[in-house]
Amino acid sequence: MAYFLGIDLGSSSVKVTLFNGENGQVMSSSHAPQTEAPIQSPQPGWAEQNPDDWWAYLKTALHQVLSTSHIDSEEIKAIGITYQMHGLVLVDKDLQVLRPAIIWCDSRAIPYGNKAFDALGHEYCLQHLLNSPGNFTAAKLAWVKENEPEIFEHIYKYMLPGDYIAMRMTGEVKTTISGLSEGMFWDYANNCISNDLMSLFGFSKELAADLVPTFGEQGRLTASVANELGLKAGTLVCYRAGDQPNNAFSLNVLNPGEIAATAGTSGVVYGISDQIQSDSKSRINMFAHVNHTAAQPRIGVMHCTNGVGIQNAWMKRLVAPDKSYDQFNEMAANVPVGSEGVTILPFGNGAERILENRILDASIHGINFNHHNANTLARATQEGVAFSFCYGMSIMQSVAMEVKVIRAGMANMFLSPVFRTTLASVTNAVIELYNTDGSIGAAVGAALGSGFYKTPQEAFGFLRKIEVVEPDRNHHNQYLEAYRRWVETLQRTLS
Ligand code: XUL
Repeated sequence: MAYFLGIDLGSSSVKVTLFNGENGQVMSSSHAPQTEAPIQSPQPGWAEQNPDDWWAYLKTALHQVLSTSHIDSEEIKAIGITYQMHGLVLVDKDLQVLRPAIIWCDSRAIPYGNKAFDALGHEYCLQHLLNSPGNFTAAKLAWVKENEPEIFEHIYKYMLPGDYIAMRMTGEVKTTISGLSEGMFWDYANNCISNDLMSLFGFSKELAADLVPTFGEQGRLTASVANELGLKAGTLVCYRAGDQPNNAFSLNVLNPGEIAATAGTSGVVYGISDQIQSDSKSRINMFAHVNHTAAQPRIGVMHCTNGVGIQNAWMKRLVAPDKSYDQFNEMAANVPVGSEGVTILPFGNGAERILENRILDASIHGINFNHHNANTLARATQEGVAFSFCYGMSIMQSVAMEVKVIRAGMANMFLSPVFRTTLASVTNAVIELYNTDGSIGAAVGAALGSGFYKTPQEAFGFLRKIEVVEPDRNHHNQYLEAYRRWVETLQRTLS
């Protein structure tokens, strides 16, 4: 048998899936912790996690997977990793972590990114980096340099969260072009790490990890780690990608015109373009997709709303703590389209790129104490998140791409009929839902990277469409009216 392990390092948990490459079946899958992983916020706008905790979650989930699947771990051919993007992990010469990871939704580095955008020149950044340095990994490293110089001087390498997991497994510090692009280190015009950005920030080139291909050998499990994990020493790690490019990959979204979405902690719509282009305000971002090469550009064009699943989970905890997500989704479905005039802006998870990195926070508008209840808040939450997608997609459409069909995994908020029908109805797009998720995508990536599958066509032969969501034409006007009210509320709050 040929089994592959997919590891998805999310911000709320680490999920591990054991995948049978021969028949496309998931043998077992598990995540840890069972309740959402904590995010430390020592100051407002900060968001940190401890990389050692990620490793502990991984071990728990993997142990669960191996003990329920009863397979011989010798038959696991390769491992693939997907991870929360844009984070910063720092290690010293002994590969020991120097400080907690500064994760994707931490807003502290915005002034550093903005300053670099001005110093390098907007036109230069948009042509070379395709984005403003914004609030991405490079700006976070600049924050450490200025605010924690005693830590900065001990840095051997900086890396992304997925690079860290691979390092723990293989003992090697490596990264990918796609990874460097999500950190804003990649110069597309010169096809190398950006010299100008590195020297502007005063980062020595040695701090960057060496490159490995996204698909292909990235390292092998060391004997001691194999022993710790219950796997075979020498097992290949041969796929690594950020959670959004990986979500697109898992849905076989690889070529221009194809579009993927996800609605986990954050929510993203991600399309592929063969043009090296950018949004002058960096409200939507461009990253090197998993199959990008200089000769054949494949750019992931995406909008991201940080407050999506986290907004839904927050509201459920407050108004329906003893209910399941299915029951919470039913509560939402009991309220008519438009949530009886209640509007929620779901921006409570750090600076939002679609709002030009403004920190707006979440807010609830239009509550009447004698009329509204927990159900209203459930629906308004899910509509608010769907409207934030529609808003981001309108920017994507104005800048770069048409959105007619969206592919998504049947997971997270796409399990909610209110969420997905609202999204389809306002955007007039058809949503196709598939039997996959990030950890399965990572396992498929490992199978492709190891050469077990020869082509993406072969790799996605097992992908099954489970449901198609069409726009609700009977309530078209109500959806548009609710969206119009949401945009108006957003504009009022922004000004
Ligand atoms: C994507 C983004 C988030 C994180 C969440 O650009 O910031 O989706 O990757 O893990």
